[in-house]
Amino acid sequence: MKQIVILASGSGSNAENIITHFQEHPEIQVAAVLTNKKEAKVLERCDRLQIPAFYFNHTSFRDSDTVVKFLQGLSTDLIVLAGFLWKIPENIISAFPNKIINIHPALLPKYGGKGMYGERVHQAVKENGETETGITIHYVNEHYDEGAIIFQAKTTVNPSDDADSIAEKVHQLEYEHFPKVIEKLLS
Ligand code: GRF
Repeated sequence: MKQIVILASGSGSNAENIITHFQEHPEIQVAAVLTNKKEAKVLERCDRLQIPAFYFNHTSFRDSDTVVKFLQGLSTDLIVLAGFLWKIPENIISAFPNKIINIHPALLPKYGGKGMYGERVHQAVKENGETETGITIHYVNEHYDEGAIIFQAKTTVNPSDDADSIAEKVHQLEYEHFPKVIEKLLS
């Protein structure tokens, strides 16, 4: 079995979508979800879906090998960031070369970088009068949103769209494509 570990900080709707996608898969499974937020909604989802979920604090994430050892202990084949807000430290990146991917809710290199997440991204897309936006799935390196791009998909932005409706369109793209891209990478 190939093992996916998902890192999520918030709601975790992508995490749930990925977990559900691989529930009956013969060769790939979600081994665990890790979060840096004790109150993250993703924990409720994991409870309901019966997926092991773990919380870690900043010290164990940034200043020790605790998380690396934990991930190695699970024989992790792919680390999937799905709405995970901390920068990935060098020790995790070097322990898992080309095995960490992220989804960004815009067409990188536009609207990426530190502080560009969630609502802020869609707001900026709207304010700049973009006529299209989308999703980017990319490898993770030591800089926010700069690793090699694996996949992008686009959607249109109409004058009547606001940040919420843009977010909704982008989420639909995420649900449609993220599990398939993960499956392809692991197959
Ligand atoms: C998604 O839009 C993803 O692209 C971004 O954070 C959001 C997470 O949403 N990185 P959810 O927690 O999966 O609902």
